[in-house]
Amino acid sequence: MSKVTEVSHPLILHKLAYIRNKETGAKDFRQLVEEVSMLMAYEVTRDLPMEEVDVQTPICTTKCKMLAGKKMAIVPILRAGLGMVDGMLSLIPAAKVGHIGLYRDEETLQPVEYFCKLPQDIAEREVIVVDPMLATGGSSADAITLLKKRGAKNIRLVCLIAAPEGIKCVTDKHPDVDVYVASIDEKLNENGYIVPGLGDAGDRLFGTK
Ligand code: PRP
Ligand code: URA
Repeated sequence: MSKVTEVSHPLILHKLAYIRNKETGAKDFRQLVEEVSMLMAYEVTRDLPMEEVDVQTPICTTKCKMLAGKKMAIVPILRAGLGMVDGMLSLIPAAKVGHIGLYRDEETLQPVEYFCKLPQDIAEREVIVVDPMLATGGSSADAITLLKKRGAKNIRLVCLIAAPEGIKCVTDKHPDVDVYVASIDEKLNENGYIVPGLGDAGDRLFGTK
């Protein structure tokens, strides 16, 4: 069964308050999303496997722990997921980056796929899917299905803000996927937007609409 982690660290909550504020412009919004993503990267990598290695310090040889060679991939869901990539890469610089393009049809709220380019060895990688918003859950659930069709086996999902409906959708369809969110909000409104949320993440990141 999926583990759902709400990462309510004071720094994350503080930055999230600025991100939610409608007066925050695209430049600050982008910077803050990057910073929160870096803090989320710390949490989502907490249980990575480690191995013991011998290290020669200037004084003696000692046993140290290092990551056990697990290869990682970060997969943003376009467009808004792009805003989370640099923050993740700042803590996981050796990760490869795949891209999945999905947009939500404004009438039906169903995700429509338009792009997919993944590292060729995605099946051997620990995959972190990133998207700031988990609303109905359709986009994230479809992105994960696509990754599984390409062979990915170990997948985690990181979002900034989630509606309970989105969490249920993803965890019902993908009980093997753990979900990390900065905030679980109250609900979806009649237009499928998260309440209180932050509005349209893609438009706020890229200054569109
Ligand atoms: C937003 C968001 C998610 C999706 C969430 O993307 O970034 O991908 O909606 O909604 P869901 O959980 O109901 O599927 P959008 O479709 O607006 O595309 P964009 O990132 O290009 O703006
Ligand atoms: N997509 C967004 O960008 N925001 C929402 O609140 C819901 C879907």
